[in-house]
Amino acid sequence: MASFESSSRYAASIRRMHWTIFVLVLLAYVFINLFEQFPKGSATRVNVLAAHYTAGLAVLLLVLPRLLLRLRNGRPAILPPPPRWTELLGNITQVALYLFLLVQPILGIITLQIGGKPVTLFGWTLLPSFVDLPNRVLSHQWEDIHGTVGTIFYYVIGLHILASIWHHFGRRDNTLKRML
Ligand code: HEM
Ligand code: HEM
Repeated sequence: MASFESSSRYAASIRRMHWTIFVLVLLAYVFINLFEQFPKGSATRVNVLAAHYTAGLAVLLLVLPRLLLRLRNGRPAILPPPPRWTELLGNITQVALYLFLLVQPILGIITLQIGGKPVTLFGWTLLPSFVDLPNRVLSHQWEDIHGTVGTIFYYVIGLHILASIWHHFGRRDNTLKRML
């Protein structure tokens, strides 16, 4: 299988996936912060919340194909090579981001399933409820975990973005250009 180790950019498919998933995660955060602006029981509130679920489900659908592409294509070298410790920190952050993309939507799904709630968008059922006996207390506990992970990743994503800016404008290496 061809390796992109010596290529100057990530494979086009990986770059497309990176930015598509970025927009979806951004939308998931925007919708969840927006829905409480609308009155309880209103159709808009329900739809904005459903849009949060939909963006999150799309992330889950894309993350495994993205990981497969990444494992098949490898990672282009950063030039000039950064210090070992920043490379290590970058690797840890990126593994954490992949885990987040996988685990966070699953936590959301578990929350809804235990609560006995399907995911519907404009009347379409995207994910039916498979639970006959909903447990609101347990569902709230999973929601809290989902919320805490969501809050922690504001910072991890922030660190990831700051690192990209530092590489580009501080070190003036090709880290960001490889992903554009
Ligand atoms: C990358 C994807 C996702 C991110 C970043 C994300 C993030 C968040 C955040 C930050 C909250 C607010 C928690 C709080 O204020 O306590 C939240 C709430 C919630 N999310 Fe997600 N989420 C994602 C995917 C999903 C998915 C796929 C589902 C279900 C299909 C889901 C279901 C929920 C539910 C049920 C809540 C609670 C809403 C309420 O207050 O009624 N999330 N999410
Ligand atoms: C929701 C937000 C984001 C998530 C979840 C995310 C996730 C990821 C992941 C998992 C990787 C590892 C790619 C791989 O090697 O397989 C990565 C790489 C990268 N991301 Fe992001 N990203 C986000 C936002 C951004 C933003 C806004 C920027 C630019 C300002 C950015 C710039 C980069 C760059 C330059 C790389 C390559 C890093 C390297 O190879 O060392 N990302 N991102």
